[in-house]
Amino acid sequence: MQKYSFFVNNSIYNNSFTRFNALKMQVFHKVSELSVFQQELQKKGHSLGFVATMGALHEGHLTLLRRANQENEASIVSIFVNPTQFNNPEDLEKYPRRTDEDLALLEAEGATAVFMPSVEEMYGENVQSEDIDLIGLDKGMEGEFRPGHFDGVATVVKRLFEMIKPQKAYFGNKDFQQVLVVQHVAKVFQLPVEVIGCDTARYSSGLAMSSRNFRLSPQGMEEAAIIYREMSWAAKNYQDYNPSGLRAAIRQHFAASNLELEYIEFADARSMRIVEDWSQHQEVRTFIAAFCEGVRLIDNTKLFP
Ligand code: PAF
Repeated sequence: MQKYSFFVNNSIYNNSFTRFNALKMQVFHKVSELSVFQQELQKKGHSLGFVATMGALHEGHLTLLRRANQENEASIVSIFVNPTQFNNPEDLEKYPRRTDEDLALLEAEGATAVFMPSVEEMYGENVQSEDIDLIGLDKGMEGEFRPGHFDGVATVVKRLFEMIKPQKAYFGNKDFQQVLVVQHVAKVFQLPVEVIGCDTARYSSGLAMSSRNFRLSPQGMEEAAIIYREMSWAAKNYQDYNPSGLRAAIRQHFAASNLELEYIEFADARSMRIVEDWSQHQEVRTFIAAFCEGVRLIDNTKLFP
């Protein structure tokens, strides 16, 4: 597939684009700056793959970007720590911010462009979520323990899709509930974007890659691997338990660890409804949230089939 090179060429032939000489990757801060880029892509019939992030990039994000680069002529990554999806102000304040490192990683990985809007650019004066019906996808797990979280996610992703206008958008399945919410938003607002859930990137211990891991000590990183171990154990042993028995067994295992379990849930992989009887569901996933060294980590994996 031919890669997108308009700005590189223009930097050579057009003085008004001299800034592109220094930096091949384009960095946009305002929606108005995106339009030349979009028009050029459209003119060439090139597709744009999009990865939405809150920065503090890791291998998981880069895996999404590689896929965006493979499947599209151009790619764009947004870096925006979205205030409306944090129900806890301390969590928002402590969220890792590493802009210089992020830009270097994205350029090395061949992102065509980066969109880094301000809070004002995204929200104007009104830093609030829109009221979007998420048909219950937002009720359990993250929705229950982080009230308003998915309203914030739905609002910001809808606006990012409208501003960036990608043909494909790549999201990590570590946030599986978020992927379903985003797919729903794209569908109800008839946004012409394909939302693709991608496999979770993991360390060899099984720990899911996450920006929040930047706040863990090396020992914390080792201890946090219990999350994946327990989800794997659940997948091997669920037939010996009913859902509440399996939840209780996993709670007990966590009680013997240094992690503080917030929730362990089994939910239908399509509706996100909590599972109380295995036989009523065809596709079920295990969801865990736990605190390690005061850092809140989430993960999920397939329970069955
Ligand atoms: O998963 C994230 O990093 C965020 O929830 C997202 C999708 C970038 C929206 O702010």
